[in-house]
Amino acid sequence: MTYAVLLAGGIGSRVGANIPKQFIKINNKPLIVYCIEKFILLNEFKKIIVSSPKEYISQTKEFIDEFLPNEDRIVIIEGGETRQDTLLNSIHYIDKIKDCDNPIVVCHDAARIFVSEKLIENCIDYTRKYGSSSPVVSTTDVIVEMENKTVTRMPNRYNLVHVQTPQGFKLTEYKNLFEKLSDDEKSDVHEIIKVYYLNNKEVYIFNGEKSNFKITTPFDIELAEFILKE
Ligand code: CTP
Repeated sequence: MTYAVLLAGGIGSRVGANIPKQFIKINNKPLIVYCIEKFILLNEFKKIIVSSPKEYISQTKEFIDEFLPNEDRIVIIEGGETRQDTLLNSIHYIDKIKDCDNPIVVCHDAARIFVSEKLIENCIDYTRKYGSSSPVVSTTDVIVEMENKTVTRMPNRYNLVHVQTPQGFKLTEYKNLFEKLSDDEKSDVHEIIKVYYLNNKEVYIFNGEKSNFKITTPFDIELAEFILKE
C-alpha cells in the first residue's frame, strides 16, 4: 500500500504574499493544484493526503472541488506548527486507516510543483527496494560556512548536495526511528534523512532534478510564471 503526503501546511512567509504561497494562482490555477496533478497521475497511491494551515482548510477544499472534482483519493488534513509536525499529522492519519501493516509513504513539499512523474516513480521503486529513499542534486556553487562575515569552514564542494523531495519511507520503520530520538534531536528534524542519519541508518540516494526546485522566494514565483506561461 502506498500513500502520498503533500506537505502544504506552511504559510510561505519568504514569498511575502498576502496568502500562503500554495494558493497563489498562475494561469488562474493555484500552485497547490499543479502539485496534486502530478501525484494523481500515479495509480499506485491509495490516498493523496494534502495538508493545509488550519485557517485555510475550507479554501483548500474549495480549490480541490473546483479543479479536481472527480479525484476521490484526495484527503485534506490540518497541518502542524512545523513541517515535521505536518508530516507527523499525515503519518497519524495513515496509521488510523489500519488497512495494511507497513505502508510506503511518499512525502513531498507541495511547493515543488515541477516534480516529474519519473521522480515520483523512482521514489516509489527505490523505497520498495531499499526501505527509504531521497533525491539530491549536486551543488554548482562553492558553499562556505560564515559567522559575522568571516568564513569559518569551507566544505569540499564535491561532497555537498541539495536534498529534495519526494522522499519515501516505510511508515512503521520511520515511526520507530523517530521515537528513538531525544527531544532535542526530534526538534531538529526537518526532513527524513536526518531521522535515519541520527539512527546510523542509510537512506537510498538517487538523482533529483534541478527543475524540481522549491518555490521559496518572490523570484521563484516569477520563475514559475515564466515556466508555466501559456
Ligand atoms: N510545510 C508544512 N507545514 C509547516 C511548514 C511547512 O507542511 N508547518 C510545508 C510547506 O507548505 C512547503 C514545505 O513544507 O510545501 C517546505 O517548506 P517551506 O518551503 O519552508 O514552506 P513554508 O514554511 O510555507 O515557507 P516559509 O519558510 O517561507 O514560511
